[in-house]
Amino acid sequence: MPRRVSIHDLRAMKQRGDKIAMVTCYDYTSAKIVEELGFPIVLVGDSLGMVVLGHESTLRVTLDMMIHHSKAVSRALKKAMLVIDLPFASYSSSDLPTSLKNAGRAMAEGGAQAVKVEGGRRMAPVVGTLAASGIPVMGHIGLTPQSIHMIGGYRVQGRTKEAADRLMAAALALEDAGAFSIVLELVPAPLAQQISEKLTIPTIGIGAGPGCDGQVQVFHDIMGMYEDFLPKHAKRYANVAEVIRKAARAYKEDVEQGRFPTAGQSFEMDAVLDGKAGDEPAKP
Ligand code: KIV
Repeated sequence: MPRRVSIHDLRAMKQRGDKIAMVTCYDYTSAKIVEELGFPIVLVGDSLGMVVLGHESTLRVTLDMMIHHSKAVSRALKKAMLVIDLPFASYSSSDLPTSLKNAGRAMAEGGAQAVKVEGGRRMAPVVGTLAASGIPVMGHIGLTPQSIHMIGGYRVQGRTKEAADRLMAAALALEDAGAFSIVLELVPAPLAQQISEKLTIPTIGIGAGPGCDGQVQVFHDIMGMYEDFLPKHAKRYANVAEVIRKAARAYKEDVEQGRFPTAGQSFEMDAVLDGKAGDEPAKP
């Protein structure tokens, strides 16, 4: 049984200067590939609300949805650390018992090794409570999509001196509260680098430049599977949507033209006639 990547391994990676590659995953099949490639950390992000479920934002994602997808991913991950997003309104500094109960469900039912929460200084009590209960917590500051209606749009955060100071203070407060790592989303690269240098815990950037200790991207963005929108910070490494489109079109045409199935994909009657119906395996 391979040893699972721990929060201590991630901190050691930062100390050695090894960059941490993180990616989101929402299903068993892609998680198997990500595990095989040796990603140390995988996020079941609430971005699944958009790229898998077709919602406009992450706000419609529930804890049950997160757990459903996390269970699938957890069946594939033997070594990578699985982090699960706590979804919108499932945690709050004004209701720490509910936050703890929901984080506990996400870990126990979802099979995760850590949770992620969005928000700056105001989230320090949540981080402290969960960490004190043995739940590793990843923070998430900068652009926090669960607060999109407060922020007023998906835009870069921390551009002014005042906003940058607030983000630095938030990062330090979350580290002090016990976060094992912090995602910096849509933060100017020089600020993300300063935060990364100041913290002892690893920062994971998304749209935060190369100075972070690691990077995270949404699986469907980098694979070219989600065509509604490609964020500026994402790089397409493949055009999987086009591969699927081509294959699905070929299948449809084959069915319509009577080219599929052929004898090779069909079963003969003799197994039925000699009383062995059902013995012929449908799968190899
Ligand atoms: O939900 C998500 O995928 C995330 C990452 C983009 C950091 O929070």
